Amino acid sequence: DGPKPLAGKKAIVTSGPTHEPIDPVRYIANRSSGRQGHAIAAALARLGADVTLVSGPVTIPDPVGVRMLHVERAEEMRDAVLAALPADVAVMVAAVADWRVASAADQKLKKHPGESIPTLALTENPDILKTVGHHTTRPKLVIGFAAETQDVEANARLKLERKGADLIVANDVSPSTGIMGGTRNSVKLIRRDGIEQWPDLSKDEVAERLAALIAEQLMQR
Ligand code: C5P
Repeated sequence: DGPKPLAGKKAIVTSGPTHEPIDPVRYIANRSSGRQGHAIAAALARLGADVTLVSGPVTIPDPVGVRMLHVERAEEMRDAVLAALPADVAVMVAAVADWRVASAADQKLKKHPGESIPTLALTENPDILKTVGHHTTRPKLVIGFAAETQDVEANARLKLERKGADLIVANDVSPSTGIMGGTRNSVKLIRRDGIEQWPDLSKDEVAERLAALIAEQLMQR
C-alpha cells in the first residue's frame, strides 16, 4: 500500500455509456467501454479516496474498493450522481447520450407488412457535468472529459466555460485513433490558465496521473 493523500476525501466518478430505451428490447447506445472511467475510480480509491462509481452498462469488471452504482439511462445516472453529493471531487467520464427517445414504447415495436416505418422523436437528456458544475453543493474540483473528432481544443475550452468545470480532459476519438473502446489514450488537459498535452499513455496511466493531480489540487485548497 502506497501513501493515501486522498484519505477522508469523497469522489464521484461516472463511467461507460448510457442506454436509452426505444422499446423494452431496443436501445440507443455508444461505443464507450468504461475503461477510462473505471481506471480513474480505481486510481482514486488506491490513493485513499471514498469513491462512488456510477456506471452505465459495461462488460468490464467493477473496480475493487469503490462503491458501485449501476445505471442504464442518463436520467438514472443524473439521479445517482446527485444523490451521492456532496463530494470533494467529481470526475464525469461517462459518454452520456445527448438525446433519449421522447416516449419509449411500453411494448416491442412490431413490423407490420405494408405499414409505415417508425420514426424516433428524440428529446434532450440532462447534462450531468453541467448540473454538477453549477450545483449549490458543487464539489471543489469538477472535471469533465471531451471526446471530439474535430477542433478538440476549441471545443474543450467552450465546455470548460459552459459546464462550470475546473478541468477538461480532451481526447480525439476519431476512429483512426482507436481510443474509443481501446486501452490507450492521448489527452490534453484544458484549464482556464493553460493547456498541457500528455504523451500517449495507457488508460491506467492516464488514471494514475489524473488521480495524482487531483490529490495535489485538493491539498492546495
Ligand atoms: O458535451 P459533451 O458530451 O462532449 O461533454 C462531455 C463531458 O460532459 C463529459 O465529461 C461527460 O461525462 C459530460 N456529460 C454529462 N452529461 C451529459 C453529456 C455529457 O455529464 N448529458
